[in-house]
Amino acid sequence: MLDTQLHIQLLRFDSLPSTNTEALRQAQGGAQAGLCIVAREQTAGRGRHARTWVSPKDAGLYFSIILRPRLAAQLWPLLTLAAALAVRAALTETCALTPDIKWPNDLLVGGRKLCGILAEVCETDRGRACVVGIGINLTDEAFPPDLRTRATSIAAATGRTPDREALLSALVRQLAKHYAQLHEPHGPETIIKAWCASSSYADGQRVRVETDTEKFDGTTRGLEPDGALRIATGAGAIKIVRAGDVHALRQIDDE
Ligand code: BTN
Repeated sequence: MLDTQLHIQLLRFDSLPSTNTEALRQAQGGAQAGLCIVAREQTAGRGRHARTWVSPKDAGLYFSIILRPRLAAQLWPLLTLAAALAVRAALTETCALTPDIKWPNDLLVGGRKLCGILAEVCETDRGRACVVGIGINLTDEAFPPDLRTRATSIAAATGRTPDREALLSALVRQLAKHYAQLHEPHGPETIIKAWCASSSYADGQRVRVETDTEKFDGTTRGLEPDGALRIATGAGAIKIVRAGDVHALRQIDDE
């Protein structure tokens, strides 16, 4: 089977430290692209920038997929943009939600975070692999009370208890679709265009950017071909952000 056509297989667990850790372990053991790890709870869930992802039982969808992309290394950041588009499509299909995407790959409803995505890369005997971990808040129990002003859940956003299995099956179908699309001849451009059409952060958003080395304000001006965010910082200067946190200034002012 071509590596760009994912052969989806689900491995389910009651409890794991982290679905990403388990997926990385499976990838190192030679598992195929398309193997998905799902857990009802995580005891050591991880977020971006070494943050904790609180993961109480059945309050969130805790999911990781192994990918073995046939893409130039500089295009691998597009995997998480494609994953964000897949989550968004699955939420629209199953919950009638159309979240905003905050660069690079947070999904927001009403400005509050509903889903986070963490991509991790590892070396294996079959070549370099990428694990994309996705955490979706199903109910408000998924996040600590002090995050109430910044986080939300499907239950809160729709007023209904989400159908976890319907969401999971739409998610894996959409991931396979977007992954195949990314590998098409003009796939990277297609994904960037779709991402820009799905994100209020793509162009004209006033933001505060925090990287490991600096903090500055500016206005978003689209994406580079590798998914990096272009920020106008005044007097015609453009900064390119490849890693870091971005916050809408409107939201910071409201807090
Ligand atoms: C972030 O926004 O900081 C990324 C959060 C990613 C959380 C998911 S939950 C499933 C997978 N396993 C983990 O340990 N993390 C990711």
